Amino acid sequence: MNALQVSPVRVGRVLERPKTPLDLTMLLRGRSTHFETPARSKCFSFRAHFLDSRGPEEIHTVNSREQDLKRLKAAIEPDLVLSIANALVARGDSLLLLRKLPPHSVSLILTDPPYHATKKRNIYGDTAFAEDQHYLEWMAQFAAEWRRVLRPNGSFFCFCDSSMSGRLDVLFSKNFNVLSHIVWTKPNDPGFDGWKGKMKKEALRQWYPHSERILFAEPAAEGNLFRSPFALFLRNARQHAGLSMHQLTAKIGAHGKVNHGGAVSNWEDGRNTPSRDQYEKMRKALMATGKVDPMPPYEDVIRPFVMDASKEFTDVWTFPSVRPYKGKHPAEKPVAMLQHAIEATTFPGDIVLDCFGGGGSTALAALKLKRRTVVMEIEPTWAAEIASRVEDASETDAPLVSTTQNTSAQKPPRTNQRKSRQLAFFSVGR
Ligand SMILES: C[S@@+](CC[C@H](N)C(=O)[O-])C[C@H]1O[C@@H](n2cnc3c(N)ncnc32)[C@H](O)[C@@H]1O
Repeated sequence: MNALQVSPVRVGRVLERPKTPLDLTMLLRGRSTHFETPARSKCFSFRAHFLDSRGPEEIHTVNSREQDLKRLKAAIEPDLVLSIANALVARGDSLLLLRKLPPHSVSLILTDPPYHATKKRNIYGDTAFAEDQHYLEWMAQFAAEWRRVLRPNGSFFCFCDSSMSGRLDVLFSKNFNVLSHIVWTKPNDPGFDGWKGKMKKEALRQWYPHSERILFAEPAAEGNLFRSPFALFLRNARQHAGLSMHQLTAKIGAHGKVNHGGAVSNWEDGRNTPSRDQYEKMRKALMATGKVDPMPPYEDVIRPFVMDASKEFTDVWTFPSVRPYKGKHPAEKPVAMLQHAIEATTFPGDIVLDCFGGGGSTALAALKLKRRTVVMEIEPTWAAEIASRVEDASETDAPLVSTTQNTSAQKPPRTNQRKSRQLAFFSVGR
């Protein structure tokens, strides 16, 4: 059995659906929830709280990413132009495709829609909206679906033009906590810097737009800034266990100098998250009360943010644009920049979704980092190009290693991959 074939591990016993459910789907819709008191319920269950909509049988641990990719594949099978072990490429309108996807099935959405503001005729959709509001209404439909398909501990990046970023922030804030407006600035050499060098500076009526924006967000809960699904889960689990913030902080030894309940209260407020070690201690302490069911692994509850001083840790990212080459997508983003985004916000093996594939850079970056990927593109020629690039990349890539298992994975034989891709091409009509 290889790393991609690790069986899902059962976590916790299967509970009946509580009569007053601690239901993540309610959290995701921004409704307020209430928790059961210990007297009325059995144990507090992560499954009931987070994963009600995922099926009655079992909770999967991090290795369920493999299962999730299978579920994603089944949902959009007729639209696939490529299906290999770690990647799916679908051709079609991504809004329609998204609606077919199961909830909470991807860990990262990293996507680069038509900007609308740039009005590039060679990008499908960039000139499609007569008014800004029409574009925003279209984006709002995506936002609701993105929120639905994202895991509770997932992350979301959306590229946009600086002129639209404020309005998109307001719109996304209905479903997400928008955490950063990343400024992507391009230190391009003269001659490769768009109109910057060539244009008459005296003709400017605003600052020359030398950057693009990337909005970064996490799923929100209860419509509150920084109230993440994990923050609510922890509060409910702790209250259910009958522990005060102070008591739980003491049990895990995370005392601050001034306020002894500070660590837990920060986590419950969504201001930051526990380290793996702190989470393990908290998990043990909560379960030791006998009032909380076995809790899931770190990778299923904590939103990853892997950062250190050696990396670009600020919200100003400096990456040169992709130099022109034969076959370049007109809006192609640098793979190195996408890797920077993916590496910080996912665990190895996680599933990265891009609904506006273009030339497939997101998928290529994900595969380089040993993540799984699902990519969608409406233009048939670009969908075929992505499939070809992804297939080539996965040929040269080393086997994907799971987050928790260090076993080696075998790729399916090359001949089978080619065959399945050809069959898929024949079966798609548009
Ligand atoms: C800005 S480009 C993405 C470029 C990509 N990030 C890259 O690095 O190559 C947007 C892409 O979205 C595609 N697109 C536009 N509307 C779409 C839709 N409704 N569904 C799927 N793809 C769409 C366009 O054809 C275009 O290739």
